[in-house]
Amino acid sequence: MAWVLLIIAVTVLWVASLCKVFHVYYSPSKAIYFGNGEILQKKNVLLVIAHPDDECMFFTPTINYLTSRGHNLHIFCMSTGNADGMGDSRKYELHNACAVLKVPLQQVKILDHPDLQDGFGKVWNHTLLAKITEEEITSCGIDLVITFDSYGVSGHCNHRDVHFGIRKLLLDFRQREIEAWELVTTNILRKYSGPIDIWLSMLLAILHQSEEVHCLLNEHPFKSFRSMAQHSSQWVWFRKLFVSFSSYTYVNTLRKIKA
Ligand SMILES: *[C@@H]1O[C@H](CO)[C@@H](O)[C@H](O)[C@H]1NC(C)=O
Repeated sequence: MAWVLLIIAVTVLWVASLCKVFHVYYSPSKAIYFGNGEILQKKNVLLVIAHPDDECMFFTPTINYLTSRGHNLHIFCMSTGNADGMGDSRKYELHNACAVLKVPLQQVKILDHPDLQDGFGKVWNHTLLAKITEEEITSCGIDLVITFDSYGVSGHCNHRDVHFGIRKLLLDFRQREIEAWELVTTNILRKYSGPIDIWLSMLLAILHQSEEVHCLLNEHPFKSFRSMAQHSSQWVWFRKLFVSFSSYTYVNTLRKIKA
């Protein structure tokens, strides 16, 4: 009996959370981030990811927030995701996903560097990542960088190395006014609680006002599905499940990186 009640409670909560997400969607004038400060007054934003599909799997609330508010978003992908030899088609898939996400193609850059190849055992040189990203920041006039945190959501070593590369950049180019924000990794229960996690994310952002934390709700969760479906080589059943149950489809918590 208890488990029936539990299932009913979870279902009700799930539907209520989806309603909250769509409520935001239908009234776009409402504030959709919580926390202090003025996030993203700066206009030229660089999203640094490790593989094609990271943008859809983890960052769509952030991307939708930025593009719908007229910010100029650049995506910088450190590899073609060639672990299974499909790098060429995955590049093409990232371009298609960016078209759905309304990121201009000329602002999407995918590297294929011999020392930065996709793979679990591959260690990426943080100094090299910092140097390459700094060049991109300079050539695009970037003033805000967004990337993974030190755990990298899924724990993939390439995600974590990208984070440490950005940290290195902040240290090495301290005299420059570069601001960086990281996508906060949540625990496994929260990670797979779908839209239900929006409540906790909003509450935590309010409670941690001093820490410069922002919570962004995804105004267009269907767009996340449509963009992920562009990654056809990756669009297998378990990723469809992931995108449905992942809280990262519905909410992103960003925290400012302190160098
Ligand atoms: C890491 O990259 C930097 C810059 O390209 C290079 O000078 C350094 O030797 C590299 N370190 C390793 C361990 O390969």
